[in-house]
Amino acid sequence: MKRLNSQLQQDGAPLELILLIRTLLAGCKEIAFRVSQGALAGVLGSTLSENVQGETQKKLDVISNQILKDTLRESGYVKAISSEEEDDVVPCNPEGNYLVSFDPLDGSSNTEINSLIGTIFSIAHAPQWMEPSDPSAFLQPGTQMVAAGYVLYGPSTMLAMTTGRGTHIYTLDKTHGGFLLTQPNVSIPAQTTEYAINASNQRHWEPAMQAYVADLLAGSDGPREKNFNMRWVAAMVGDIHRVLCRGGIFMYPYDKRDPDKPGKLRLLYEANPMAFLIEQAGGLAHTGSGRIMEVMPTEIHQRVPVLLGSKDEIEACLSYYKAHS
Ligand code: AHG
Ligand code: MN
Ligand code: MN
Ligand code: MN
Repeated sequence: MKRLNSQLQQDGAPLELILLIRTLLAGCKEIAFRVSQGALAGVLGSTLSENVQGETQKKLDVISNQILKDTLRESGYVKAISSEEEDDVVPCNPEGNYLVSFDPLDGSSNTEINSLIGTIFSIAHAPQWMEPSDPSAFLQPGTQMVAAGYVLYGPSTMLAMTTGRGTHIYTLDKTHGGFLLTQPNVSIPAQTTEYAINASNQRHWEPAMQAYVADLLAGSDGPREKNFNMRWVAAMVGDIHRVLCRGGIFMYPYDKRDPDKPGKLRLLYEANPMAFLIEQAGGLAHTGSGRIMEVMPTEIHQRVPVLLGSKDEIEACLSYYKAHS
């Protein structure tokens, strides 16, 4: 079975990027171990690394953030980091050539019920002119990403990643610690009858989304003339993994509750990396008013509406937005 390294080489990734990805994944393997310890993580985990000494009482998402931050800072490849768990950009090596953004633990409320969680990341070039503590270099559209992916901490630990030459899925072989290619060139079926949305927010959606979901619910009795099934993992990594494996769509749409938060999910740490993976697998990634990867961020923790997945179904959804505009 092919190893991650050979696939990255085949996809033309430069050596330094490959080394950075391997470093990042070393951090994720440590997170995988912590996560697998469950409620014991704070007790037994402290024997594993000095970096998190004294932080054993912290929640797993804070521990995961610390692991990734320490690993990337020490690597030398990274100029600065932005993270869901950090208020500001974290300066690293002024000579580093890359910027890394991440959600250290996505779906972190699932830790309480031993359910799916993961780490989401993206990598971009660091501009030469950039001061490591300057957040403005992170305010570039997702089209500038050179790599993105997630590590899913499930029954097996899996990695989905793209460097812009297709999306590939790997499985962690815990016997030797390497990621092996188990699903090359993922291709999301254009059509689907499966969708994911938190329907308890229905009253806060825009009319277009209300109308679209009403027609999904009407099934074969409605204008769509087919029955749809619904799934919700409450961890975007889990829902997107299902979409990559068997098609479907995932939505966290515009929400009118708070004008400062047009959606729940964060552009840099969640929407952009997942959009890159989905597009590279032949799917679509939209906000309802434009392509996610073309959104120009105005601040690092910005939130956006997301509609991701099977091409024809996202287009069907967008036709409701057009009809209501
Ligand atoms: P995080 O745990 O990183 O804060 O992200 C949780 C996100 C995302 O993973 C998931 O799809 C969504 O929140 C779940 O939202 P609901 O609580 O509305 O189900
Ligand atoms: Mn998240
Ligand atoms: Mn998180
Ligand atoms: Mn969170």
